[in-house]
Amino acid sequence: MPRLALYQPDIPQNAGTLMRLGACTGVGLDIIEPCGFILDDKRMKRSVMDYADHADVTRHLSWSAFQAQRRGRLVLLTTRAAVPYTQVAYQPDDILLLGRESAGVPDDVHGAADVRVLIPMMPGTRSLNVAIAAAMVLGEVLRQVAGDGGETAIPSEVGKG
Ligand SMILES: C[S@@+](CC[C@H](N)C(=O)[O-])C[C@H]1O[C@@H](n2cnc3c(N)ncnc32)[C@H](O)[C@@H]1O
Repeated sequence: MPRLALYQPDIPQNAGTLMRLGACTGVGLDIIEPCGFILDDKRMKRSVMDYADHADVTRHLSWSAFQAQRRGRLVLLTTRAAVPYTQVAYQPDDILLLGRESAGVPDDVHGAADVRVLIPMMPGTRSLNVAIAAAMVLGEVLRQVAGDGGETAIPSEVGKG
């Protein structure tokens, strides 16, 4: 299965929302520290609700620690990309990397990505909320790679009338 990775997240509610997204879709979440909050923040717990027990979350103390153990391709979501996310062929073990709410990712992290994708936006708009961006691209990734009976595949009887 693919994974989500958060680069030094700033806002606990977004991290909690993404933990819940991961729990509901069967997708693991990597949190690359330092974070702008402590990982038992009450605001994060409120967003995760009781899904925390279902979430597969791994903490990494630094970017280099995350890189040292990474296996799949790194797919960076960034407004600096040129390729729309719908035009990429994803792989089952891709890691979708999301930038900080305040500043995205630094140039070295941008350069380390294997693929960089954009969610096209209307002129005059700057960026989407990080959890919304993750959900949009994860939906496309799962559509492409989890249609083979993976945890998130829709049972075959659904939709047969
Ligand atoms: C609030 S945005 C970051 C805004 C930040 N000021 C910047 O310049 O990157 C947080 C993260 O959501 C993702 N994101 C938001 N909108 C996006 C878009 N249109 N295309 C791709 N990724 C996006 C990126 O991973 C981004 O780093």
